[in-house]
Amino acid sequence: MRMVDLIAKKRDGQSLSKEEIEWIVTGYTNGKIPDYQMSALTMAIFYQDMTDQEITDLTLAMANSGDVVNLENIEGIKVDKHSTGGVGDTTTLVLAPLVASVGVPVAKMSGRGLGYTGGTLDKLEAIPGFQIELSEDKFVELVNESKVAVIGQSGNLAPADKKLYALRDVTATVDSIPLIASSIMSKKIAAGADAIVLDVTTGDGAFMKNLEDAKRLASTMVQIGKLANRQTMAVISDMSQPLGEAIGNSLEVVEAIETLQGKGPKDLEEMCYVLGSQMVVLAKKADTLEQAREMLEEALHSGKAFAKFKEMVANQGGDVSVIDHPEKLLTAKYEIELPAKQSGVITKLVANELGIAAMMLGAGRKTKEDTIDFAVGLKLRKKVGEAIQEGESVLTIYANQPAEEIQDVVALLYQNIEIGPSGQEPPLIHGIITE
Ligand code: URA
Ligand code: CA
Repeated sequence: MRMVDLIAKKRDGQSLSKEEIEWIVTGYTNGKIPDYQMSALTMAIFYQDMTDQEITDLTLAMANSGDVVNLENIEGIKVDKHSTGGVGDTTTLVLAPLVASVGVPVAKMSGRGLGYTGGTLDKLEAIPGFQIELSEDKFVELVNESKVAVIGQSGNLAPADKKLYALRDVTATVDSIPLIASSIMSKKIAAGADAIVLDVTTGDGAFMKNLEDAKRLASTMVQIGKLANRQTMAVISDMSQPLGEAIGNSLEVVEAIETLQGKGPKDLEEMCYVLGSQMVVLAKKADTLEQAREMLEEALHSGKAFAKFKEMVANQGGDVSVIDHPEKLLTAKYEIELPAKQSGVITKLVANELGIAAMMLGAGRKTKEDTIDFAVGLKLRKKVGEAIQEGESVLTIYANQPAEEIQDVVALLYQNIEIGPSGQEPPLIHGIITE
């Protein structure tokens, strides 16, 4: 086979065979196919799209390009959850112990944040002592005994995707549905879960800015899951404004604790029930979504889910005393209120731009090498659809620099907060896609 012929084939709108796709993925991973040819192919895919069969073949080839995690030693049906990315998305911190507390094994591999999106690993590391690196044996043992553990992705999970994602990032080919779908699903499949719940976000703070694209991405991934023999479903959720109220690592740990104590923001709690019910049903711990939801509500309100979170923190070496005294985590030197410039109703809190503001404060990384400041971030005092008076605080900035030094952040925030005469809370869930 010659790469140039395969590039031409895709350029002309034809489908690549399984053998051709496997040859490309193997050759690219071991360096025999150079970046410039792979760039041409990804651009051809960007314009010509791929069939579900091609996307599945690409996904499986990338999943098999490195380590494939074997979770067979964990009893029960393992269900993974994956979000396509968001701002202030504190879901995993709440969902993992919540679902585990009703008996679903949660063997979760999470990632770090980059750019305006946060990552679960960074948030967990805001808890002093928390270890996100565990041996595979220890990971399996914890999930069997305690039903939950969250670790970092193994270094050699889907290396083809790692290489390809870096290439797409600099060749304007990230925004391609077949490439995003295969990228996400290759990692999920290599991570070993039996069933997968996808949270496909849509809106300013998401990859998929409009609902049509989000639906297509969701159906494509559900279809790949089916062809790869993993039960998969997707929830399409709103990311036009940040989820919950907190954006930033320690702030989100505090938000997770409050939510697990029944005192958290209602949208975050609802999101956890919606995703969690699907996980419980896929794991066959309940027959219906209604039954699953009742179990989760009971676990949250009885304190069972919160106890599970503490157990998870203790199991992974974290300091449990901060979980009982979350105020210990709020160590930013300055708390600066952002007053509304007029009275009215909040009509916009542009999620990605608020994520960038939090990153500029130090809550996120501009490049992979950056270190992050766990203490800083934003706490929304109002959300879209809520009334506000001139002078009232829209949000609190948690910073380690005084107000004079973060005027660029303040300006960016004001540009991305809109107040109008009337406005409505956006729907949290835009749709559910199953096989
Ligand atoms: N997340 C991924 O893992 N891959 C993509 O291509 C986009 C989002
Ligand atoms: Ca949040």
